Amino acid sequence: MKNWIIKEEWFNNQEITANENRFLCGNGYLGIRGALEEFQKEKLPAVNLSGIYDRVGDGWREPLNAPNPLYTRIKVDGEYYFLPEKEPVSHIQELDFRHGIVRRLTTFRTKRGCVTVEAEHFASMADCHLIGMRYTVTADFHADIEIHTGIDGDVWDIHGPHYDEVVIRQKDMCLVADAVTHENREHVCVAERYRTQAPHEHKTKEEERRALHRICVVTDINKPVVIEKMAAVYTTKDCNDPEKVSEKSVTDSMEAGYEELLKRHTACWERLWDTSEVEIEGDAEAEKELNYSIYHLLSIAPYHAGSQSIPARGLSGQTYKGAVFWDTEMFMLDFFLNTQPKVARTLLKYRIDTLAGAEKKAKGYGYEGAFYAWESQEGGYDACSDYNVTDVFTNRPMRTYFKDKQIHISGAVVYGLIHYVNLTGDTSILYEGGAETIVSCARFYDSRMSERVHSEVYELRDVIGPDEYHERVNNNSYTNRLALFVLREAAKLLSRSKEDKKLAEIFGEMDCEAWEGRFNEDAEKLLQKKPVKNNVIEQFDGYFQLEDTTVDTVRSRLLNEKEYWGGAYGVASDTQIIKQADVVTQLVMFPDDFSRETAWDNWGYYEPRTEHGSSLSACMYGILACICGHPNAAYPFFRKSAGADLKGGGKEWAGTVYIGGTHPAAAGGAYMTAIKGFAGITIEDGQVKAYPHLPDGWKKMRFSVFYQGERYEVVVTSDGAEIKKYEM
Ligand code: BGC
Repeated sequence: MKNWIIKEEWFNNQEITANENRFLCGNGYLGIRGALEEFQKEKLPAVNLSGIYDRVGDGWREPLNAPNPLYTRIKVDGEYYFLPEKEPVSHIQELDFRHGIVRRLTTFRTKRGCVTVEAEHFASMADCHLIGMRYTVTADFHADIEIHTGIDGDVWDIHGPHYDEVVIRQKDMCLVADAVTHENREHVCVAERYRTQAPHEHKTKEEERRALHRICVVTDINKPVVIEKMAAVYTTKDCNDPEKVSEKSVTDSMEAGYEELLKRHTACWERLWDTSEVEIEGDAEAEKELNYSIYHLLSIAPYHAGSQSIPARGLSGQTYKGAVFWDTEMFMLDFFLNTQPKVARTLLKYRIDTLAGAEKKAKGYGYEGAFYAWESQEGGYDACSDYNVTDVFTNRPMRTYFKDKQIHISGAVVYGLIHYVNLTGDTSILYEGGAETIVSCARFYDSRMSERVHSEVYELRDVIGPDEYHERVNNNSYTNRLALFVLREAAKLLSRSKEDKKLAEIFGEMDCEAWEGRFNEDAEKLLQKKPVKNNVIEQFDGYFQLEDTTVDTVRSRLLNEKEYWGGAYGVASDTQIIKQADVVTQLVMFPDDFSRETAWDNWGYYEPRTEHGSSLSACMYGILACICGHPNAAYPFFRKSAGADLKGGGKEWAGTVYIGGTHPAAAGGAYMTAIKGFAGITIEDGQVKAYPHLPDGWKKMRFSVFYQGERYEVVVTSDGAEIKKYEM
């Protein structure tokens, strides 16, 4: 029997925000930070919404947190009892990550006896607009208890407040909050209702931006008072009258009853796990961490949409502006392709539907084609600011060039699209904008290249690779290789259009033959770095000339621990110390370019020079070590990725700005390390094959993968693999 519970057995003030990430639950439409019910905005609770953003003044544009319908506090004999104000006798918080149910159990000692609060909540997987909560209070004496529960519209924002108004109306026993956004006057509506069998007196309590039921009971000794609550969230992005729809939805759900809704919710989770679970015999801890990572990916997948992607911090708040990065295509996509291919399509449709934004961005810099947003919000708007870092010494914004120079983002989009078509066999996506997207990205690289004087070589100068510490470099190896991939794929598509009428129609006026020739020529001439010194590929022109030192030495030069390592004057900028996997990522994406020995030599060179300052880094070292046949070297990197959210420990604050949250790219990276790395799953001659490299102690892995619309059941041991088509 597997252990699907994670648990904290004592209340620790220092762990509040980390636990809110750890105990996050969500359904792709919304994510609920694992805050305790009594928390107000300074403790960072959030019902974070996907795909709806707002901007106030010059602040960063960020996603919205809905009015919080879980907000609840209790009064016992006239006195409030809640954390952290009152010291508890005991406190447990837990997450059942098999079913996305968060629970807490807290006992307080009052003057006359003990009172225990027990609560559970879930973000319904069966209906993404619904949230359910059961709140139980038990006293070991005849206590005079008031339960204040309702909607807290005074929400936590990083660059808010995003609501100009929050009006909460009471309609019969239903509270409905209508919050109106600042920038576009979108309405975010939350309706809430409760039910209890306990005889009680009901009043309503209104505070600024907050409306609460006051449920007054005198308890029997040890007899629980159970409140069941349902809430519904709708916005003007979902329907014209979200107030009415949310109210109706919550009323209908109350009729169905809490137990029934919980049943529907858990049944959906079981269906998700059916294709997503990874069993690892011989390493229970790794198995738990990996499935917990998968839980996070499943909690934030946009099942409800046909065209939407996943932000870099999932649905854990407004950090990173709720924006979509290359994280999705390069780190998360594999998981969805293998387990929920429909979601993979939705993620890629988002890129297709934001092509216009990408073309506008390219034009803005004087280029052709599509230059995707580094931090993409709706419509492909690039939320990345020119000044993404604040200098700790002067407190002045520092010019960073992530948005302008990380041109590898367009390559990631194409890589994702091609990967999708190859694994699913669903070419329809090419006719729905995919083909245009690929060609447009190729046109971008074509216009972005320059020819080296007196030579035939094309270059990509003034770029930033995955390693953000070295800005504005020339010929970043990863970027050039990815651009080559894009050019070749675009040329293939153009060539196909000779036979494929639909494609020919899509390319319309374009002179396909001429462009095909041009892309092929670009591909021929674009500089590709070869292994040089000791078989190592130089990350970018001149990298080997930089000071060769250690991560610790560079760290020791910091004058302030929050100082930025990169940019113009960063401590790492003039050294070979890099933020995250760069050449190593290239070798993972294109494993057949070089021999395994070369790949391993590069691993050995770059690993000690990598700070792993991004949660995206470890998994690439893990996967490459497996590809090179060194699973035990891969193992600690795998555990680091898989434990990113469970163990926490990542950076949470930059000065006064909260930058914490969940790390779905690390979760996806852990999955890739397990499946692509340890199990060695690959496609060969149109078939799913496995070349396992299991680390010490692992006896067996069991999981499923989808390929070309069929599900395969895979069992892997160190002696080999059994791969069977799934029979219903
Ligand atoms: C990393 C990027 C990543 C972003 C969002 C940054 O720290 O350097 O590669 O896309 O975080 O996860």
